[in-house]
Amino acid sequence: MNAPSRTKLNQTPEWTALGKHREELAGTRLRQLFADAPDRGTDLTLRVGDLLVDYSKNLVTDETLRLLRELAAATGVAELRDAMFRGEKINTTEDRAVLHTALRAPRDAVIEVDGENVVPAVHAVLDKMAAFSDRVRSGEWTGHTGRRIKNIVNIGIGGSDLGPAMAYEALRSFTDRSLTLRFVSNVDGADLHEALQGLDPAETLFVIASKTFTTIETITNATSARDWLLTGVGAGQEAVAKHFVALSTNAGKVADFGIDTANMFEFWDWVGGRYSYDSAIGLSLMIAIGPDRFREMLDGFHLVDEHFRNAPAEENAPLLLGLLGVWYGGFFDAQSHAVLPYSHYLSKFTAYLQQLDMESNGKSVDRDGDPVEWQTGPVVWGTPGTNGQHAYYQLIHQGTKVIPADFIGFAEPVGDLLPGLVPQHDLLMANFFAQTQALAFGKTPDEVRAEGVPEELVPHKTFRGNHPTTTILADRLTPSVLGQLIALYEHKVFVQGAVWNIDSFDQWGVELGKVLAKKIEPVLTEGTGGERLDSSTAALVAAYRTLRGR
Ligand code: F6P
Repeated sequence: MNAPSRTKLNQTPEWTALGKHREELAGTRLRQLFADAPDRGTDLTLRVGDLLVDYSKNLVTDETLRLLRELAAATGVAELRDAMFRGEKINTTEDRAVLHTALRAPRDAVIEVDGENVVPAVHAVLDKMAAFSDRVRSGEWTGHTGRRIKNIVNIGIGGSDLGPAMAYEALRSFTDRSLTLRFVSNVDGADLHEALQGLDPAETLFVIASKTFTTIETITNATSARDWLLTGVGAGQEAVAKHFVALSTNAGKVADFGIDTANMFEFWDWVGGRYSYDSAIGLSLMIAIGPDRFREMLDGFHLVDEHFRNAPAEENAPLLLGLLGVWYGGFFDAQSHAVLPYSHYLSKFTAYLQQLDMESNGKSVDRDGDPVEWQTGPVVWGTPGTNGQHAYYQLIHQGTKVIPADFIGFAEPVGDLLPGLVPQHDLLMANFFAQTQALAFGKTPDEVRAEGVPEELVPHKTFRGNHPTTTILADRLTPSVLGQLIALYEHKVFVQGAVWNIDSFDQWGVELGKVLAKKIEPVLTEGTGGERLDSSTAALVAAYRTLRGR
């Protein structure tokens, strides 16, 4: 099914108007915008559930926002959003519906794909996951030798790893601390090797997470894990049933691997890998935090889904964040976007967003297959504050690039921090607020001089300022708040893809490397077929073989 062709983005009057407006804004300073509008800091804020989104420190005026909303209207963002929520096949290159929103829909919702309501199946799987999680958590589910399961090793990659791994770190303080959870993704044997250190096979459950169940990294690691397990417990294939479960859409391949499909937790082709961690792919997380917390997280997602669907454009946070990205990419030539969480628990948050955003919007042809003539998805990067401040913030403050940044922070530390550590939170958050202030307002040469700085050092100590940031503040990092944050970014990515007229839900760009790796492997191991390689790769492969003594 092909969407009707539409006017090229950069030929729309709305795009042209934004370009003209950008020229008029040249030289506009955030200092001035704040001086002109004393309430800007509260006027340009939104509330979504538990999230306070302050976008006042962005390089926008009311006129910019109006023009951006007009662009969204002209490019049919709302229509595509509604089509997505209705279960239409908006992933046109794969002819698939895009329905991660159904994964968190309430039990009584009706969402149809090909005439069938998918919500009962979603809840049946969630219930099955909950029953299984409870059995593991209570000790009722035991290993082959009757020992209680104490270790869970999740084997998956990309969307079958990053989501649960990120959320497990994010929600550590809500986890059952008597369980050890480890995540293995890399086909580098070192990953599995380290993950298995100190684990007793008789007490270990492997969760094999793969939508397709054909991904070479995952199947290779799962096979090695099975060998380790069977050797360790001194049993045959019959032990697999108690130590391996699968999360997949592909029952045939799961059975081929030797996992009883009774121990498979299903999801569907309308769930994209990078949008899947609130499906069965979240099983390891659910075991760690328990079904109730998992449901709280889903409710958080759903809250933002409803907001995205129903809030008027002026108050719609994902729409706004998406349009800001379009603005900076399209009219400031911003190449990247930093996401800087001031929570150590969010240490994997940005890595998760990298896949979400870059695999979704890293495209250079539009829905009709024509090359795009505008920037699409940015490079997403960042690490938790305050660590980044002592590493790369220098470049954000004084470098030559425009780097819009999101700062994410919390009023309260979560969980069971040692009481002596609680006061550190104010110091963390003082840095959080100070950074966006410094980035926005900088320090002028005159202010530097007024401090008695010698003239030759003035340029070095001047901060240009005017660096755009968005601040997202919540009370605490709870399961619900995590769900809200992820849904906010999912829909932001959606908005950008819709404006840029690209298919945000395929990922053909990952295929070529996979195919070539399959061809190169026998050259490495058997030395055959090297003559078909280009001269650079052939020489590198030859050097590799020599180093390996082959
Ligand atoms: O190679 C990219 C990709 O297809 C991702 O989109 C996906 O999340 C990942 O591989 C893992 O795929 P699977 O869950 O099928 O193993």
